[in-house]
Amino acid sequence: MVETIQWTDAGVVMIDQTRLPREQAFVVCTTYREVADAIRAMVVRGAPAIGVAAAMGVALGVREGVDGFETICDTLARTRPTAVNLFWAIERMRRVRASLNGATPAQVAQRMIEEARQIRLEDIAICRAIGRNGAELVPDHKTVLTHCNAGALATAGYGTALGVIRAAVESGKRIDVYADETRPFLQGARLTAWELQQDNIPTTLITDNMAGHFLRSGRIGCVVVGADRIAGNGDVANKIGTYSLAVLAKENGVPFYVAAPVSTFDLTLSSGDEIPIEQRSPAEVTHVFGVPVAPDDIAVANPAFDVTPARYVSAIVCERGVARPPYEVSLKKMASA
Ligand code: MRU
Repeated sequence: MVETIQWTDAGVVMIDQTRLPREQAFVVCTTYREVADAIRAMVVRGAPAIGVAAAMGVALGVREGVDGFETICDTLARTRPTAVNLFWAIERMRRVRASLNGATPAQVAQRMIEEARQIRLEDIAICRAIGRNGAELVPDHKTVLTHCNAGALATAGYGTALGVIRAAVESGKRIDVYADETRPFLQGARLTAWELQQDNIPTTLITDNMAGHFLRSGRIGCVVVGADRIAGNGDVANKIGTYSLAVLAKENGVPFYVAAPVSTFDLTLSSGDEIPIEQRSPAEVTHVFGVPVAPDDIAVANPAFDVTPARYVSAIVCERGVARPPYEVSLKKMASA
């Protein structure tokens, strides 16, 4: 399976997700500012993966020993606003740093590196557990529809939504996948289609506006997506287009599942309305691979995420089990389990 992000002696090595699937190139970050740039430019993306990247960025920054700890944390925290895993990972690094009173700079750096590597390893194990918990929800002999990329590339490995699909296949279910291309950044076409093809999981690529047609056809057994942040009431922020899918799924009686680790829960927020939505460059909409597809100077909106109200979410699968409505109760229970 693809190595999304790793700590090595040479620095933090990431597969360059802006160049997939045409090219498998790797970026080596040797400073925390390079890690921040890589997160911003989506060289590494996906909520759990940017959490791991931020933790490794903190470790690099501490080892560099040039800037203060809070400058390092703030720089990494200012890269992308929506996925809470980024802030969760920085906070975890902060807590470890605070526990190291009296340690030498070399000892602190070593401990930071260990913690970042630990977060990466834990993420892989968490994705496996999400997969196991979610696999039983996937109906046999049916098609699973997914959006964006919530796979190995969006995590330290295995994936959340794609983890559920992988685990269902590993358990012997005969399923196939419909992958939305996911305009404008094309994570579905470039990343999910590539990842599933590598695993020989039968996959059909569709454009986003075809989803309703197929949901109505009766062939889709369930929708499984990832999440960037889940509020205390079960509202889910995920890649733009998720909300439309959820409404279409409910209209057609198709279960809509969200797969995400507990680190994606933000129980400090009572509803999804409080989740900050990243606005990205208009060029992502007006251009496709550098080629203009719209008139010059057209007004553009490019929110990277939307919020799906909890009433459309059939269940939230995490590493500790399957949360069902009412989410105010079930998410708290999962978080404290
Ligand atoms: O903008 P991206 O590519 O970082 O957005 C990714 C998503 O929306 C994923 O669905 C989400 O982070 C879950 S990844 C396991």
